[in-house]
Amino acid sequence: MYLIFIGPPGVGKGTQAKRICDHFSIVHLSTGVILRDEISNNSPVGKSAKTFIDVGQLVPDDVLLKMMSGRLAQNDCNNGFCLDGFPRTITQAEGLERILTNLNQSLDAVVSIVADEEELINRLVLRGSTSGRTDDTPEIIRQRLRVYRRQTEPLIEFYEQQNLIKAVEGVGKITEITERILNTLV
Ligand code: AP5
Ligand code: MG
Repeated sequence: MYLIFIGPPGVGKGTQAKRICDHFSIVHLSTGVILRDEISNNSPVGKSAKTFIDVGQLVPDDVLLKMMSGRLAQNDCNNGFCLDGFPRTITQAEGLERILTNLNQSLDAVVSIVADEEELINRLVLRGSTSGRTDDTPEIIRQRLRVYRRQTEPLIEFYEQQNLIKAVEGVGKITEITERILNTLV
């Protein structure tokens, strides 16, 4: 199963992608997590990424595409994966198509999780009190939402044209949302 999870900050991509990956025994790849690991390791990619993440901007496409083409070629991706937070721009989506073609793989579905903005802001402000994430402050959360609308939301139409979008309401109990997602994937 080759899946993408797409949706605004705080909608539950990470929460749900992890549960769906456990269900199908496939790899969960969150580019946010990977980039934050790079920052913790003080690597060159991490140092550069931090300057974008801290202000709620996207890390440049070439950095993401290089990073993910290496990661997706690893053996643990052979049985499938959930991509969480990647691709985030049309350029990344086109790059991903090339990567998957080279690997002889193709997407099964793009899960689009939706929730209203007030719910997202409440969740992230709440998480900010314990997450230690530098981008979970009210001002940066609003900036991340603006960037999502402008740069990432157009991907829904991009994948709609390929008939891959499975839209799921992201408000409610975590277990119920997982069931909704699984129901769209049968
Ligand atoms: P990333 O880490 O992907 O952050 P994000 O997209 O802003 O989303 P979050 O991780 O904050 O939310 P989520 O949808 O995973 O929700 P979660 O499950 O945590 O990216 C961070 C930054 O990295 C970007 O801004 C960018 O700079 C950079 N980056 C990453 N990928 C990139 C790319 N491809 N290109 C360029 N730059 C990139 O849930 C949120 C909260 O809500 C949690 O506290 C959770 O417990 C709670 N929650 C979950 N579900 C529910 C529920 N049903 N009810 C109540 N609360 C819930
Ligand atoms: Mg996440």
